[in-house]
Amino acid sequence: MKPVRAAVPQRPAHLEGLDRYEPGMAIEQVERELGVTDVVKLASNENPLGASPKALAAVQNALAGLSRYPDGTALTLRGALASRLEVESANVVIGNGSTDLIDMLTRAYLGPGDNAVIGDKAFSRFRQCANARNGGARLVAMRDGAHDLEAMLAACDARTRLLFVANPNNPTGNWNRAEEVESLLDRVPEGVLVVLDEAYYEYAEGEPGYPDGVAYVRDGAPLIVLRTFSKAYGLAGLRVGYGVASPQVIDALDTIREPFNTGSLGQAAALAALGDREHVRRGVELNRHERSRLDAGLRELGLDVLPSLGNFVCVDTGRDGASMFRRLLEQGVIVRPLRAYAMPTSLRVSVGTGPENDRLLEAMAQALRDVPRA
Ligand SMILES: Cc1ncc(COP(=O)(O)O)c(C=O)c1O
Repeated sequence: MKPVRAAVPQRPAHLEGLDRYEPGMAIEQVERELGVTDVVKLASNENPLGASPKALAAVQNALAGLSRYPDGTALTLRGALASRLEVESANVVIGNGSTDLIDMLTRAYLGPGDNAVIGDKAFSRFRQCANARNGGARLVAMRDGAHDLEAMLAACDARTRLLFVANPNNPTGNWNRAEEVESLLDRVPEGVLVVLDEAYYEYAEGEPGYPDGVAYVRDGAPLIVLRTFSKAYGLAGLRVGYGVASPQVIDALDTIREPFNTGSLGQAAALAALGDREHVRRGVELNRHERSRLDAGLRELGLDVLPSLGNFVCVDTGRDGASMFRRLLEQGVIVRPLRAYAMPTSLRVSVGTGPENDRLLEAMAQALRDVPRA
């Protein structure tokens, strides 16, 4: 007789209503589905210069050790980051990308009934991870794509454990000034950890009024700063991010961290990339020049562009964003529609090389002619 087998379990009920992250479309997918070639991807805020040659060489060298587990504590990389940032190794935790750290923070700090205060147009992983923990995201309206820190403070209650601020924010690009962030850190209620996500720090550094979150960690403020090797360091494919905070916060994260959450190739590449300051400088310089050209070009087309300190701009096309996205795809340019952020007429465009940005501007001009105003 055939054994009776239990049915495959249903999708767990607590997953109902959770939204999931929508990554940018891959070049190969667009080529396959639309039959276009020579596709330009300006959809994932990647570094158009690629990784540092020193990082590539480090990966080659590390290949020989692939049969071994990586150093789960990432001791060498943490040490190098600590000395660069003038903190101790005990202040640094490494993540499998900074998204890993966002997830770890919500797992570590949000117990049943706890909440996290999050901007309504903030990086979507904040609310997705918080909502995966008992629906804990408490959304607060943002202003012109920047966090309204006063409103976020007002939204904290006795069960608030985390308050997320992306500075600059993705997908809007806008940012909060040092005095605003300092005022938040001075007044945040006891028991709330501020998560200051500085994924685009290297691009924003040096802008008058832009704060360095790590300086506040050194001062003992109640925050964790998140940064990444995915953007200015050009290592998005290897998944390495880091957090800087007090040893107590790092210890809490270490308690729930996957023991080998970063691989040996990622650690080796990140270490080498950290040492190649010239590569980062070139990328930041290119971004500054091309971002202002892109901004000006889009304004010349009559469009509204939010201020941005990142390696992307957020543009309101005044037309249905999904149709504009599609029309750009047909011309071989991938950008990011922002419907998931309740910005149905806006697009996020990553800053590419000069020729890539020229392609975008030409394709945008054509799409504006083809798609009717909303
Ligand atoms: C604000 C922000 N935080 C975190 C991340 C995730 O970066 P990572 O590749 O380090 O996971 C991104 C990536 O787009 C981002 O924009």
